[in-house]
Amino acid sequence: MIDIGPVDAIPLRGSRSVMLEGESIAVFRTGDDRIFALVNRCPHKHGPLSEGIIHGHAVACPLHNWRISLETGEALGADKGCTPTVQVEVVDGRILLSAPLKVAA
Ligand code: FES
Repeated sequence: MIDIGPVDAIPLRGSRSVMLEGESIAVFRTGDDRIFALVNRCPHKHGPLSEGIIHGHAVACPLHNWRISLETGEALGADKGCTPTVQVEVVDGRILLSAPLKVAA
């Protein structure tokens, strides 16, 4: 696992992006203080999900407003598509991403 910094560095309902193995990964902190990570690419036209707005456990893509589940990476509602999720753990207030990158479609 790779330590990408403290949970507190990301505000509630905030996000950041990190590069891991040449891939941009979006890391999200939800209002209920959960951490999720997805490949930073919308399944629609590759919008940067790390710049989207978090609603509950979903993020609205900044480009065309598709809503993507932070838990599964699936597009919600009528839209179809899936972004790979990245395994993430929080240990002692630090965010750890799986490495080598273990992405689940
Ligand atoms: S690129 Fe994300 S909704 Fe179009």
